[in-house]
Amino acid sequence: MVHFKYGIDFFSLLAESENNSTLRTIEWKDNKVIMIDQTKLPNQLVFVRYDDYNQVADAIRNLVVRGAPAIGVSGAFGLALAALQSNAETKEDLISDLKKAKQILFETRPTAVNLSWGLEQIMKVAESGNSVDELKDLVVNASKDMADKDIEINKTMGKFGAELFENNDTIMTHCNAGALATVAYGTALGVIRATKESGKNVKVIATETRPVQQGSRLTAFELKHDGFDVSLIPDTAVGYSMMNGLVNKVVVGADRIVRTGHVFNKIGTYQVATMANQHRIPFYVAAPLSTFDMETDANDVIIEMRKGTEVTGVGETKTAPDGVNVINPAFDMTPPELISGIITEKGVAKPPFDESIKKLFEANL
Ligand code: MRU
Repeated sequence: MVHFKYGIDFFSLLAESENNSTLRTIEWKDNKVIMIDQTKLPNQLVFVRYDDYNQVADAIRNLVVRGAPAIGVSGAFGLALAALQSNAETKEDLISDLKKAKQILFETRPTAVNLSWGLEQIMKVAESGNSVDELKDLVVNASKDMADKDIEINKTMGKFGAELFENNDTIMTHCNAGALATVAYGTALGVIRATKESGKNVKVIATETRPVQQGSRLTAFELKHDGFDVSLIPDTAVGYSMMNGLVNKVVVGADRIVRTGHVFNKIGTYQVATMANQHRIPFYVAAPLSTFDMETDANDVIIEMRKGTEVTGVGETKTAPDGVNVINPAFDMTPPELISGIITEKGVAKPPFDESIKKLFEANL
């Protein structure tokens, strides 16, 4: 693994990148995967370069890369590395190596369905290859395509979403569903970006998002970087902000949406949605079709439980007594009755969601 560091002022770096308005979180370059190490933000911009799929699996597990679409593409890039690493001489042996890598990548995080979606897409492409060399090329090209398409999808979603927001809205968001949670541009933050690009003036309120602080470390960072008027609040100030008229609308991302419209997203999303409902504030979810799981029932979705030290301290500083019990779920479920609309690249699904989600998929056939 290779690290290379930049100071936090990386405008010059962005000017060199193909996508000049937002960060590119993950990239395939010279047969290696390059990603921003998100555990170091906002204090340092560190890029890591991997040539082994096990390193990509560790990066997903340890939140070097996080956010549902970003881990979907990381899984795909992981399989592309596995294909290049393989010494197999037959197609069958190469597929068998890919299956082993797929299992290791799949087991890293259980809730975001984009990871298994990304892995399955690449496995399908691999099966279609005839020779070892052809199969390697197919897998690498398919994972690069997936990354490019992620940006296109986010931009299309943004255009649909922008129609739901008015000039001078203040929009609350939770966690980070931005450029850093995708390849670039973002889902929920992509909608906010597109709203601004459509000429409307909007402000953003970002929740801090304890315990890992994706809101303060990542959302506040990327929005400030892109010149947005963003205010950070502690998670405990969601009710205060809504009661005092500081928020007009909410938009968040998702890790998994099931066919009934139950949305799994960062822990605390349910609280934000409940509070928005209490104050009659529209609550929107923005997610690509790859985040939908049409097979699993809401009650069967696995909620990732993370280590207690994320809660017993802030950064390196311990803030709780030794030996205290901790419950640290990384995600929660927001029921469909609290959701005003689900923004996708195929349009906005409105309640009743079981019908509107089905239509989105029929239109996608
Ligand atoms: O634990 P994380 O940081 O991977 O959780 C991320 C979220 O919950 C995001 O809101 C979700 O993945 C949508 S990202 C476009």
